[in-house]
Amino acid sequence: MIKKGIVLAGGKGTRMSPLTKAVNKQLLPIYDKPLIFYPLSILMLAKIKDILIIVNKGQLNQYKRILPNGKNLGIKISYLEQDKPRGLPDAFVIGEKFIGKSSVAMILGDNFFYGQNLTSQLLNNTKLKKGAKVVLHKVQKPESFGIAKINKKKRILTIKEKPKKFLSDLAITGLYFFDNNVVEYAKKLKPSKRGEVEIVDLLNFYKQKNQLTADIIGRGGAWLDTGSIEDFYKTSAFVSAIENRQGFKIACLEEIALNNKWISKKIIKASIKFYGNCDYSKYLSKLI
Ligand code: TTP
Repeated sequence: MIKKGIVLAGGKGTRMSPLTKAVNKQLLPIYDKPLIFYPLSILMLAKIKDILIIVNKGQLNQYKRILPNGKNLGIKISYLEQDKPRGLPDAFVIGEKFIGKSSVAMILGDNFFYGQNLTSQLLNNTKLKKGAKVVLHKVQKPESFGIAKINKKKRILTIKEKPKKFLSDLAITGLYFFDNNVVEYAKKLKPSKRGEVEIVDLLNFYKQKNQLTADIIGRGGAWLDTGSIEDFYKTSAFVSAIENRQGFKIACLEEIALNNKWISKKIIKASIKFYGNCDYSKYLSKLI
């Protein structure tokens, strides 16, 4: 079982400037919560309790105000800083000590997942013993994404970043599961032309060994990348529509922790005090 997870929550957020000049993207609101709640909730739904959040140098205090150490959620949150955005696989170099001898899940801080069966799919993915697993989702414009072509057994045959010629319409999302070799492979990577180490190159180490498999989020599930302003607001609208229609919240961290039996009602009461008089607190009150 994978018991450790990383949320990669640094980045320049260039596409969302000027919003991201003073505040990191992952702390901006998706409807009623900071963006970081959503990827964090995914790791929690996967029953991962030992979580490393990687943030930009200088932004640690911002994060600690809203997510101090995880105690209020029955989990352990630790932080490390990335001094500049060297690329996604840099997470495994920065996180080497945190990972130790374990296998590890990683989610990008700006990725949003929602859907039926998601929890059981996540739990199934944490059973990974050897190799790596990526989560795929069908997209309309494959030329804008990292794309994977798979066989019937969901083994990955080809991966390509933004393919000009049609290869497949399955995009590689920002949620990955790796065995412990990921640290060694990440260290071997050299920056690409754009000056970053690339996740596709990291995945290729596994593919060459025939150890790269896929999990697909079907039509009952949604994956939204929140990297551009347009996508950011679309995701907000999605969350607002679902929450207001159905009356339950997406990515309420305390609710997930309570369902997982990681925290008591007493701890939720303290969180209500911490958040103050707001809708989120009212929702927490209803839970207990
Ligand atoms: P990107 O979308 O590649 O980058 P970004 O968020 O900085 O945005 P932009 O392209 O507009 O400049 O990053 C995906 C996620 O990974 C995002 O949540 C930021 C995070 N990230 C890091 O934390 N460190 C890194 O080195 C990189 C490349 C990304």
